[in-house]
This record gives sequence, C-alpha cells and structure tokens, in this order.
Amino acid sequence: MQILVTGAAGYIGSHVVKQLLEQTDYKIVIIDNLSTGFDSTIETLKSLDTTKSRIKFYNQDLSNWSEIEKIFEENCIKEIIHFAAFSQVAESMKNPIKYYSNNTINTTNLINIATKYGVKKFIFSSTAAVYGEVSSENIPIKESLITNPINPYGSSKLFSESIIKDVASIKNDFKYIILRYFNVAGADLDGKVGECHNPETHLIPLVIKTALGKRESIKIFGDDYDTPDGTCIRDYIHVCDLADAHIEALKYLDTNESDTFNCGYGYGYSVKEVVEMVKKVSNVEFKIEIEKRRVGDPAVLISDNTKIKTKMNWTPKYNDLELICKTALEWEKRI
Ligand SMILES: NC(=O)c1ccc[n+]([C@@H]2O[C@H](COP(=O)([O-])OP(=O)(O)OC[C@H]3O[C@@H](n4cnc5c(N)ncnc54)[C@H](O)[C@@H]3O)[C@@H](O)[C@H]2O)c1
Repeated sequence: MQILVTGAAGYIGSHVVKQLLEQTDYKIVIIDNLSTGFDSTIETLKSLDTTKSRIKFYNQDLSNWSEIEKIFEENCIKEIIHFAAFSQVAESMKNPIKYYSNNTINTTNLINIATKYGVKKFIFSSTAAVYGEVSSENIPIKESLITNPINPYGSSKLFSESIIKDVASIKNDFKYIILRYFNVAGADLDGKVGECHNPETHLIPLVIKTALGKRESIKIFGDDYDTPDGTCIRDYIHVCDLADAHIEALKYLDTNESDTFNCGYGYGYSVKEVVEMVKKVSNVEFKIEIEKRRVGDPAVLISDNTKIKTKMNWTPKYNDLELICKTALEWEKRI
C-alpha cells in the first residue's frame, strides 16, 4: 500500500513519516519542493527505513501539475496526508496570493488528481487559525464553532477545507479527515527530527533559542490581557501526539465517515509559563522584553478535544509542557 505524504521534509510531516515507518507497513511517496523543508530531513528519514525500500522522494513543486500527475501514474497512491503549505501568518497578510496559490490552488489540484487516480483517504493539515478571534464564552473551542479566519493563511486553509468537503460529497469513495492543529511544539523523543522554521515565529523554539544564546532576548507581546498573569494562553500539543493523530485518522477512515477534528490538549499555558518552563529545563536566565499587544492575538486559544478523544480513540501520551520544552531544547542544541 502506497501513501503520499506531501511536505514531509518539514517539521510535522517528518514526524509523521517517522511514525509511519515505525508503526505501519506503508510504502511512502514523498513530494516536497524543499522551499521550507530540508534535504537533510529526507536523508534522516531514509536512514530510518531499515528496508531501504519504503521511501521514494520526489523533489517537486505541487504547482507542477503535469509532473505531479506523472507521480500518480508511476505509483499506486490510494491515501494522502497533505502537509505541504506556507504557514506564516504575517507573511500571508503581506502576500495573500502566495498563500492562496500554494495552500488553496495547489490543494485543489492535488484533490483533482487524487480523485482521478482513485485515492480513498485524504488527511488534511488545517489549523486553529480557521476560527479567528474567539470570544471567551466559546473557549474551549469546539469544531462546531463558526469559522471566521482573520488572515489569508487561515482563509486559505478554510477554502481548502470547503473544497475537500464538496468533492467528498459527490465522490462516495473519497473520504477525508480534516485535522485542525492548535500550537504544535516539541520534537521527536529520539532526537532524529525536530522543528526548523526560517524565520521562526513559534514561541517555544524562540524562547529556547534565547536560552541557548542564539537570540538576545525574548519579546512578550502584551502582559495586560485578561488572563491570570496577563499574557496570552495557548494550547501546546507535542508533535509526536499530533503525528499519532494522523495514524489514527487513517485507521478511523476504514470504518467511519469523513470528519473534522481539533488537535490539542484542551488545556493552555500562558506565555510567561512557557518562558519559566524553558528557564527551568535549560537552567539559564535570559532577557525578557515586554512589548505592546500585537493586532489579532486573542487572549486565550484552547481546543475542546472531546471529539477526537472519544470518536477517534486518540490518546495523548506527551501532554506535559516540561517534556515538550525538553525535547525542543535537545533538538535545538543539535541544529
Ligand atoms: N507548525 C504548526 O504549529 C502548525 C499549526 C497549524 C497548522 N500547521 C500546518 O501543518 C502543515 C505543516 O506545517 P509545518 O510546521 O511542518 O511546516 P513546514 O514549513 O516545516 O513544512 C511544510 C513543508 O511543505 C513543503 N512545501 C511547501 N509548499 C510546497 C509545494 N508547493 N510543493 C511541494 N512542497 C511544498 C516545504 O518545503 C516543507 O517541507 C502546514 O500545512 C501548516 O499550515 C502547522
């Protein structure tokens, strides 16, 4: 059985491929144009394949539609996990076309080819950004909450969600799972793969880089929010638990219908709590600068994860901020 994983040279996709190698028999076709991912990650994944025959890598851009179709002709792809996308919110506000082109148009084309070649399962990386600014009475956020993205990144993902659902509604044999990730963090416990975005915009790697002296200080945007310590609260999910949700999603579709699930722990930590945890695990004091609030940063974003835990039987194993920060620290020391 061949599964296509797009974007596997990146952060989350590489963790999922590692778990596919460890926990399943899939032969894995990877498409990645290395725009934000790394050739070295592909080499690491190949080195973890003890059979040396389970990974086939195509350095290809999803916008090269005829080349993508050739990959489907050459392989027998019946399942897809689609990570490839751009995901910098600020960049999406400056260059929306870049985001709609890659995240929505390329996804549309991939679905078009997928249905032509008889793909049965499509797992899609979506984001909590589809919910937009959520008022406190809607926290924790349920999947049924009305979606209202406030930036092109969130909109580009929400359009893709609609396209996937519309296609599935007319193709009985095409099933999907949409996973809406909250704040993904941490690294593989074996230290083989980890997070590497450029520029990095996520809090935990930024604080860790500061602890390791790779940055001079960490900026906290707003300490006057209506939260216990005044800083924003987010739901951090360990990347290995998130990877496991993808494996569970593939199994779930064997006997269940298409659906959308939040991926988070249903619990949040404040920015100050994250900073304190990084100080604890690194044993380093570093400079903190308090800045004004950023536009569009809601005070609290926490998932309601009841649906994925009950319906999909997903059981998180690494729901521990200390472990998340330790694994991220160990990874950051290596790179
Ligand atoms: N990291 C997070 O916290 C987070 C949160 C919510 C959703 N997501 C979503 O999860 C997915 C993976 O995120 P990530 O953090 O691993 O990002 P990443 O940038 O590390 O990985 C994305 C990968 O896709 C590849 N890619 C991008 N455009 C491509 C194209 N046109 N053709 C071929 N390959 C292409 C990149 O080279 C990269 O290897 C994305 O869809 C992102 O929107 C991430």
